[in-house]
Amino acid sequence: MKTALALLLSVPVAFAADKPRIDISKIPLPVPRKVDFTREVYPIFKESCFSCHGPEKQKGKYRMDTREGAFKVTDDYGPAIKAGRSEESAIIHMVCDLIDEMLMPPPSDKPGQSEKLTAEQIGILRAWIDQGAEWPAGPIQEVVRPVTFTADVQPIFAAACASCHSGASAKGAFSVDTAEAVLRGGSGYGKVITPGNPAKSALMTIIAGKDEDLPSPEKHTLPAKQAAVIEKWIAQGAK
Ligand code: HEC
Ligand code: HEC
Repeated sequence: MKTALALLLSVPVAFAADKPRIDISKIPLPVPRKVDFTREVYPIFKESCFSCHGPEKQKGKYRMDTREGAFKVTDDYGPAIKAGRSEESAIIHMVCDLIDEMLMPPPSDKPGQSEKLTAEQIGILRAWIDQGAEWPAGPIQEVVRPVTFTADVQPIFAAACASCHSGASAKGAFSVDTAEAVLRGGSGYGKVITPGNPAKSALMTIIAGKDEDLPSPEKHTLPAKQAAVIEKWIAQGAK
């Protein structure tokens, strides 16, 4: 069985004589463990696909936020998801750029908008499909991973702010060295974070580059993705 599978995986798969051959020999392997749909797969779909294949838009008449929609058999590319067979599932061919002009998410000029899936993410999708593509009935109860200062926030501040806001000579006495220091605030502004309430936190205005009282607003502007992490951290209580 094992060797038969290895053989199958190493040979280019052709679905029908009139379709181009798809060479799956070089794509990332499934991750070698049991994969959880709600915790691992759904978040990938949500982050990378729902903006075009979700409740609001269904590009290519494809909708991925429901089970019925996600398992569509496409007109031109075979089944989007074929349970048990990731190597015959169109979404895998597409995220691996194996179908001409059908890389998903499609390339985009806007930085950070349409990032290719990583090898790890593709391995997770393949493992989920190979393990039977289980999709629980009903609405998906999303698992919210808590945003923490050490794992998520500190690296952002360290790269973007610490050159001016660290140690004893921190500008405006605002230090990003610890969560306590960030919560304490600076000499001019005082507290810039209201835990649980991003809208009331001056820090959000500052990192959006909209605080015109600060010197060099561009040094105070974070990319939208990073600002979103800070916002989540504050919304969850800034722990
Ligand atoms: C920025 C928008 C955008 C994003 C994000 C996006 N797609 Fe698409 N997708 C499209 C467009 C546009 C088409 C139609 C392309 C065509 O038919 O030429 C399409 C078509 C498809 C189709 C074919 C549907 C059919 O019935 O023919 C599949 C499958 C698909 N996408 C999967 C995905 C997956 C999986 C992701 C996430 C990993 C994703 N897409 C992310 C825009 C997007
Ligand atoms: C190139 C240096 C520089 C960088 C990088 C920088 N800042 Fe500043 N920041 C300043 C200066 C200068 C002030 C004004 C200090 C003063 O008024 O004495 C300031 C003031 C502040 C204040 C107000 C402090 C107070 O209470 O007076 C906050 C909050 C702040 N910065 C946050 C940030 C954050 C968050 C980042 C990273 C996204 C950042 N800064 C990046 C130079 C910088």
